[in-house]
Amino acid sequence: MEAVSETTAKRRKGATAEEMATRQRDISVSEFFAKNRHLLGFDNPRKALLTAVKEAVDNSLDACEEASILPEIAVIIEDLQPDRPATAKSSRYRLTVVDNGPGIVRKQVENIFGRLLYGSKFHRLKMSRGQQGIGISAAGMYGLITTGRPMVIHTKPKAGSAAHHIELAMNTKTNRAEVTTDEEVKDFPPARLATITSGTRALVAEGGFVSPETFRTGTSVSIELEGRYQRGRGSVDEFLELTAIANPHARITFVPPSRDAGSEDDASILAHAEANAATKATATTETGGVVIYPRGVQDLPPETREIQPHPKGIELGILLQMLKDYEATEKGSLFNFLQERFCRVSSATAAQMCKAAGATSRTRAGDVEAPQAEKLFTFFQEVKLPPPPTDCLAPIGVRQLLAGLLKGVRAEFYAASSRSAEVYRGRPFQIEAAIAFGGDLPADEPARVIRFANRVPLLFQQSACSSFKAVLETGWKNYNLQQPRGSLPVGPLVIMLHMASVWVPFTSESKEAIADYDEIRKEMKLALMECGRKLGTYLNKRAKMRREGERRDVFERYIGEIAKAVGAITGEDAKRLYDALQVQAKRKTAVADQQLDEDGKVLREQGELDDDGVLIVPTAMSDAVVSAPVTVAMPELAAPPARAKAKPSTPASPKPASRSAAPSSKPPAKPASKPAPAALSKPSAKPAAKPAPAAPFKPVAPRPPAPRRPSQDGPTLF
Ligand SMILES: Nc1ncnc2c1ncn2[C@@H]1O[C@H](COP(=O)(O)OP(=O)(O)O)[C@@H](O)[C@H]1O
Ligand SMILES: [Mg+2]
Repeated sequence: MEAVSETTAKRRKGATAEEMATRQRDISVSEFFAKNRHLLGFDNPRKALLTAVKEAVDNSLDACEEASILPEIAVIIEDLQPDRPATAKSSRYRLTVVDNGPGIVRKQVENIFGRLLYGSKFHRLKMSRGQQGIGISAAGMYGLITTGRPMVIHTKPKAGSAAHHIELAMNTKTNRAEVTTDEEVKDFPPARLATITSGTRALVAEGGFVSPETFRTGTSVSIELEGRYQRGRGSVDEFLELTAIANPHARITFVPPSRDAGSEDDASILAHAEANAATKATATTETGGVVIYPRGVQDLPPETREIQPHPKGIELGILLQMLKDYEATEKGSLFNFLQERFCRVSSATAAQMCKAAGATSRTRAGDVEAPQAEKLFTFFQEVKLPPPPTDCLAPIGVRQLLAGLLKGVRAEFYAASSRSAEVYRGRPFQIEAAIAFGGDLPADEPARVIRFANRVPLLFQQSACSSFKAVLETGWKNYNLQQPRGSLPVGPLVIMLHMASVWVPFTSESKEAIADYDEIRKEMKLALMECGRKLGTYLNKRAKMRREGERRDVFERYIGEIAKAVGAITGEDAKRLYDALQVQAKRKTAVADQQLDEDGKVLREQGELDDDGVLIVPTAMSDAVVSAPVTVAMPELAAPPARAKAKPSTPASPKPASRSAAPSSKPPAKPASKPAPAALSKPSAKPAAKPAPAAPFKPVAPRPPAPRRPSQDGPTLF
């Protein structure tokens, strides 16, 4: 073996260190990512289109919120090769995203759009969608690589002044922008956008699209790129739908391209939206192909504050670097350094820390030696400190979670929970969960998990994500749902999880999945359990009401017969006996009359939401659930919503008189009105609907009633 390798080594002349040195050189960050564009989410044409939309929309939302402007965003995708053959795998598109944010000052345009790793969010600890400073410039770079076309930017930082029109391409060797057009223009948003389709023209006429009054300042970014537009899971449409759910304060208009590349099933959870649009003011609407996600709430999320790192969340190397930086900029004392560069360090704690490091409060930060820094670091771990402040976070909140889900998912039961802030590696974070159950959701499929980080939907790498693991690890059987071992629960269920943090630990640069920190997963599970408990309570209650309803029907079936027989024996008036029995039957099965909204709010009018985290929409109780019972609790759901507090409907409408009739015999119409109790109290007025118990004195049941022991206080049924 050795001999062989020796001879090979002799025959081949390898490179010398000097020769290798001639080839060793810098790698520019943009060259690196141009080669590894899959790391940034540009792996295939379909995902590339989505990623570009996502980066631009994220930036627009961030910018609007930072400037305290209610976001108004237009996303326009133009198909530049509409005549391509049907077999084409991809096509050239022009993506334009316009926002009414604060705009960008002229001198920063090249840096923002023409350089990777340049941004305002990386160095600060504050909740925002962007983090790394590679988002929009990477999208522009992908466009340049695939089409050779520069990015077109229009930005207007001052309401009264002209807008800038800049076209630039990134030089990947130098990671710098090369500007090809630079001029001042009057129109913002670019007038061209108004006339793109007949839908946009119609909307412009009513002031609902790129109107200069709404977009007084802002930015418009256009990128030409090779992409693929196809609806379904992981599509631009899904991304925008979910963004609208997590950002009910934003109004988003979307002009899709004229052609859809594929016929994948429309996995839209908003598929019902058009049908709903007539009745719900907040639902998505479509005008001539333009999709509008209207604003669900009029308030911006609470303003967030930037925080300093927490002493317990940093590493030794970082501490050393921070000391060096402080010396370079401030030349101040260790005492001041500790208070200024960390959160939760009071002057008393700072003095304690100086002492622990073997320094005085006057020691200069630059004079702190490595062993002293190490002592200081050890002390950081031991000292008791309050957790970091949480005003750097803007969670969605229970109310908005419910508003968002209600807007996007048509279900019968909604629950939400927002946990209080926790800390991982010294960084505060907050977990929120919400679930939607029943209604139009498919009953026999695994639950759908929708994941968000800092209000951004995460559409890929589900199984690598901490939130998905948390859903799997939650015991959904405890809440009356079916859950095959190690899998998602099965049932008409959508589970939403949101992590808000000053730094979301993504597993990769493309920001698709949240890393699996124990602290984070634990909080997620607790939030899910809270929602699960609310759902369990609701399902139990429905089950109980149904059982009692069935019991009452059994009683009802026989009391006519009993009243008649007892009347014949005792000479008592049979009608009076019947009424007395009826009262008893009602009393014993009173649960059946309970209102379902006792544990939560029934939605009576649009927008009437409370902070208790539960919402019930009885009118959405669907026959889909009824006819396909799949979970342990499903048979209970099979009950028509007789006892649910339903929206009052036309009182004259005929209703099925029986609540316990076999579901299969029911007409498939959606039960949306309050049936039965009236029929119970006025037996003679009961409509002769089919499987109903017959008129009081002529019971249909041929079986004789079971013998009952009479009690002292009058007629009872058991
Ligand atoms: N639409 C916009 N309006 C205002 N500022 C923007 C906009 N888009 C980007 N920016 C600025 O450009 C910076 C870089 O954006 P980006 O490359 O996406 O990185 P990141 O969002 O991670 O910081 C942002 O931090 C922000 O300051
Ligand atoms: Mg960004």
